[in-house]
This record gives sequence, structure tokens and C-alpha cells, in this order.
Amino acid sequence: MKIGNWYNFRGIHVSLSLFALVIFTTLLWIWEENPMAVTLRSTQQWYHMPSEFHVQVLVDSVGTAKLEKSEEKSPIPITENRTKLQVDIVRPSAVDLKPAKFPKTQYNQDVRSSSRSEVCNHAKGRWVADSRRPLYSGFSCKQWLSPMWSCRMTQRPDFSFEGYRWQPENCDMPEFDRSTFLRKMQDKTIAFIGDSLGRQQFQSLMCMVTGGEETPEVVNVGWEYGLVKHRGAIRPDGWAYRFPETNTTILYYWSASLCDLQPLNSRDKLSNIAMHLDRPPAFMSQFLHRFDVLVLNTGHHWNRGKITGNRWIMHVDGKPDEDKNIEEIANAKNLTIYSVARWLDLQLVSHPRLKVFFRTISPRHFFNGDWNTGGACDNKIPLSNGSEVMQEGSSDPTIEGALKGTKVNILDITAISQLRDEAHMSRYTIRGTLNSSDCLHWCLPGIPDTWNELLVAQI
Ligand SMILES: *[C@@H]1O[C@H](CO)[C@@H](O)[C@H](O)[C@H]1NC(C)=O
Ligand SMILES: *[C@@H]1O[C@H](CO)[C@@H](O)[C@H](O)[C@H]1NC(C)=O
Ligand SMILES: *[C@@H]1O[C@H](CO)[C@@H](O)[C@H](O)[C@H]1NC(C)=O
Ligand SMILES: *[C@@H]1O[C@H](CO)[C@@H](O)[C@H](O)[C@H]1NC(C)=O
Ligand SMILES: *[C@@H]1O[C@H](CO)[C@@H](O)[C@H](O)[C@H]1NC(C)=O
Repeated sequence: MKIGNWYNFRGIHVSLSLFALVIFTTLLWIWEENPMAVTLRSTQQWYHMPSEFHVQVLVDSVGTAKLEKSEEKSPIPITENRTKLQVDIVRPSAVDLKPAKFPKTQYNQDVRSSSRSEVCNHAKGRWVADSRRPLYSGFSCKQWLSPMWSCRMTQRPDFSFEGYRWQPENCDMPEFDRSTFLRKMQDKTIAFIGDSLGRQQFQSLMCMVTGGEETPEVVNVGWEYGLVKHRGAIRPDGWAYRFPETNTTILYYWSASLCDLQPLNSRDKLSNIAMHLDRPPAFMSQFLHRFDVLVLNTGHHWNRGKITGNRWIMHVDGKPDEDKNIEEIANAKNLTIYSVARWLDLQLVSHPRLKVFFRTISPRHFFNGDWNTGGACDNKIPLSNGSEVMQEGSSDPTIEGALKGTKVNILDITAISQLRDEAHMSRYTIRGTLNSSDCLHWCLPGIPDTWNELLVAQI
């Protein structure tokens, strides 16, 4: 019978398709569990998959994978050189690419584009829920955390923001491990120079390296760098601590503008201060030879209020600036960032052990106003604006531009952190809630921990 035959044929066809689908799903799962490119590549070759099929795994809200096919052209040809694959296989560190059991956000993962050996860009990827986060507790790391940034010590009721990690798309991202880090930094010094957000990153690293545990054996070595509290000052200009078991030093120096600041009259405490836009901070030039890793940041002090408030007078070429163009804050900031990057690039020739990172700007999230006009960041739902960053370039074109052609590395956290508006201090303090919010600084533990994980992965 014609119709019967047709049904039979359909039946065979359907079960063959199902069979193929089941096999392919299984292989994809194997690949997901053990993402060595060779598994996928060899199955592709085995099945001679047509290159115009673009296969996606959609991980739905309960974390189960579905296959979807579309007729889009494949982003890479099927037959790719094996030499590259072998590099993947011998890479020693464990890659964690397991599909996250991720309750809230749906993501599409393009199997082939994430398996191809693309240039690694740590800033491209996604946030995934991870029960192993945070890396330390805000209750316990009292030794290193400023109480004002320790959200567990404030009246804040929600802490879901603590439970995520960043998964770059094409890079190895080993889990942060305290002893591995200390061994890697044996006899080395890591220095943060920047504004209060740099100080947050410093405190975060101290907590990560100690696991938030009391560490009486850590030695305060601030005096070696002149980091002592001067008479009349609220606090020293920075801190330096040494872990005796590996002789690793972690240091922070406050330099909000990354300019050299020199009082115009050293005898008068209230005198104006020359802000040399084209000279690196004296501290940095003085101690550069003692650093193995240097992490810079600047950005939020580049506004008229902060500059006049600090009595900073812009100087270029050793003289008060007369160029009206440079008076524009954006141009002054640009000049400084380019000068610092160029200066460090030259220094790297005579400091071959040194690795420099320039961190991109940390985003602010003031909605319905600014910091002083009732702006707030009250959203509590993580990743409500999406969990992925897919762009290639940085969202901080100034720093990206200044580093181009230099050997200074970019630590690009802007777009990543942009997705985390719920993780700021917001309106909570130790005593209560305020009408005004801090949508600039981050809760600790929190987003700066991720910056450090990305830093450590790139050291
Ligand atoms: C692939 O290998 C061939 C021969 O081994 C070589 O000529 C070619 O440049 C390689 N292609 C890539 C993209 O590495
Ligand atoms: C500790 O490390 C510093 C470099 O940061 C090195 O100069 C010094 O010799 C080391 N001290 C010991 C006891 O190994
Ligand atoms: C910043 O300065 C650099 C170097 O002087 C210049 O090439 C670039 O155009 C400037 N960028 C902006 C946005 O002014
Ligand atoms: C979410 O994205 C939209 C569109 O890009 C933007 O206008 C909005 O400010 C974002 N919200 C948050 C919380 O970042
Ligand atoms: C805080 O906001 C409430 C309601 O908007 C207002 O009534 C109150 O006066 C504000 N308090 C302060 C200290 O600004």
C-alpha cells in the first residue's frame, strides 16, 4: 500500500533521526563534561556534519540541554588544523566549562564558537550561578574589610549577588586557590595604585588570599614603602602586608588621579597642589623596581568637584596648564592615562620581571538621579539585564586606546560589572538605610573579587 509504505518509510526516517539526535546529544553532553576540543572535532569529522548547520545547545531554566539547528552558516570550517587542538589537550590547568545549573538566566551557547581556539578575551563571557561563591565571608574577613563595604555587616537584607562567578568564553579560568596564588607569587610583590575602587580590589584580594580567616602571621610592612600614618592624617596613603610563608607582599597606594601631586607650598598644609597630568605619581616611580605585578586604576575623581575640592591645579610640562583644551576634564584625564601608559611601557624595558595591568573604569549605577541628587540602585534581582558580554572591544575606550601598542595589559572589567547593578552598597549602612545611595562602590565580598580572579588568571 502506498500510504502504508509511506508511513513505514516515515517511521524509519523518524527513528533514524531520533537515533542520530540521541547520539549527538550524548556526545554533546560528553563534550560539555569534558570539553577537550578533540572529542567534538573528531565526532564532527566522523559524522561529516554539513558546515551550514549551526548547532546550538539551549540550556533552559532548569539546566537541561536541548538541541537546536538552524541554517546559519557555521562560524568555522569543520576541518581545522589538529596542531591547535593538541595545544588544547596538553594545557595543564583544569577548565571548568560545565553547564551551570542556572535558575534565572537563559543563555545560548554556541557549541562551535566556544570550542574553537579563539583568542582568549577574559572580558567576553557570562555570569553563572556558583554555590562555591563567595570566596570568603563578609562576616569573617573583619581584619581586612572596611566595615562600610562589608554588606553583611550592614542592614542589607539580600545577598543573592554573592553567588555568581564570571565564566570567560574562550579562556581557561582556573578556580582561585589561595595556596596556588601564594606559590605563584613567591617572593613577589603585587601593588594596586588607584582610587577607592582600587582599595576595594586590594581588600578583596587580602580576603581571598586569607579565605577571610584571622591571619595574625601576616606582617604589616607599610613602613618599607613609607606607608605610615602622618601626624594629622586620617589614615596612611596606603598599606602593605607580607605573607611570611611565601614572602608575598600585597600593597595598595592611594592615587586617585594617577598624577604626580606636589604641594605648591610644602610648609602650608592647605596650599594648592600641583597636579602634574604628564608625570606618574612619585610613589610609583620610586618603588616600581620592587613590584612584580602592578594594577592601576583611575576615573571617578576626574570631575570638577573633586579637582577643586582637592585643590588640585593642573600642570603640564612642569608649568600650570594654560591650554584651555586640557582644562576640559575629559581631555586632562585622557592626557594622564596616555602619559602613564607610555611611561610604563618605557619602564618595562628595564623592568623585565614586571607585569602591569590597567584596570578599566568601574561602572556606576545611579538611576533617577546622580550620587548627590537622590540617584539610587534598588534592583535586587541579579542579572535582570542579561548575563552575557559578547562585544569584542572594551566599554572603556580611553584606557583601551591608551594601552594599544604598549606592553601594558588591560584588565577589562567595565562591561562585566555593568551587568551587576544590584551589587553596590546601595542605601544600607551599619545602622540603617539612607535616602542617598552608594551606587559606585561594591559590596565585599562581591564584584571586585571577580576582578581579582580575572587578574590572577592573567598574571
Ligand atoms: C593548517 O595546516 C597547514 C599544513 O599543515 C598549513 O599550511 C596552514 O597554514 C594551517 N592553517 C592554519 C589556520 O593554521
Ligand atoms: C622576599 O622577597 C623579596 C622580593 O619581594 C626579596 O627581595 C627578598 O630577598 C625575599 N626575602 C626572603 C627572605 O627570601
Ligand atoms: C587622547 O590622547 C591621545 C594621545 O594624545 C589622542 O591620540 C586621542 O585622540 C585622545 N582621545 C580623546 C578622546 O581625546
Ligand atoms: C538595562 O538595559 C537598558 C538598555 O540597554 C538600559 O537602559 C538600562 O539602564 C539597563 N538597566 C540596568 C539596571 O543596567
Ligand atoms: C528621605 O525621604 C523621605 C521620603 O522621600 C523624606 O520624607 C525624608 O525627609 C527624607 N529624609 C532625608 C534625611 O532627606
